[in-house]
Amino acid sequence: MNGDIIEIRENELYKCRSFWDMSEDLTSDRLYGLVKNNIRRAFVFKTEDGYIGGCALFVREDGNGHLSHFNVAPEYRCQRIGSRLIDFAEQYFISQGVGIFGLNVMKDNTDAIRLYERKGFTYALDVTAEKIYMTKKLKI
Ligand SMILES: CC(C)(COP(=O)(O)OP(=O)(O)OC[C@H]1O[C@@H](n2cnc3c(N)ncnc32)[C@H](O)[C@@H]1OP(=O)(O)O)[C@@H](O)C(=O)NCCC(=O)NCCS
Repeated sequence: MNGDIIEIRENELYKCRSFWDMSEDLTSDRLYGLVKNNIRRAFVFKTEDGYIGGCALFVREDGNGHLSHFNVAPEYRCQRIGSRLIDFAEQYFISQGVGIFGLNVMKDNTDAIRLYERKGFTYALDVTAEKIYMTKKLKI
């Protein structure tokens, strides 16, 4: 799938409805607030069909890079778009001098966990009974 990863601005978040729920979903409301306040930067995969996947990145207080809001529109999954977004995030954090890249994932999201393991992430700790934190060491 041809496309580029670009930073999305607050006023274009509405174009991301195919993969981020922009209606009443708390997560996207939160994303909107976070992008607006420059706490997170949101990046999307742009194709001729429009924006079809994305993620949000920020550097936590402990200095670790963090990925959230990681979604690809259902009809475009399994075409390595997610992998490209993770690779992009990794390069972004390296450029910020970040040594550890982390993310939270639900324990029952075994497909996503397999993808993260393939990309070099390993289990770090339990966040809740249902959620784990996975990390990857970056070469900076
Ligand atoms: C996780 C996700 C972003 C991956 O994007 P993608 O473009 O499909 O990723 P890739 O094509 O690079 O990799 C596909 C791999 O992801 C896995 N995967 C994870 N969740 C999946 C899902 N809901 N549907 C299909 N494949 C999924 C597949 O097992 C596949 O592995 P395989 O190649 O061994 O079959 C995407 O599947 C998605 O949006 N899932 C729903 C939201 C989600 O779970 N986000 C992660 C929250 S922590």
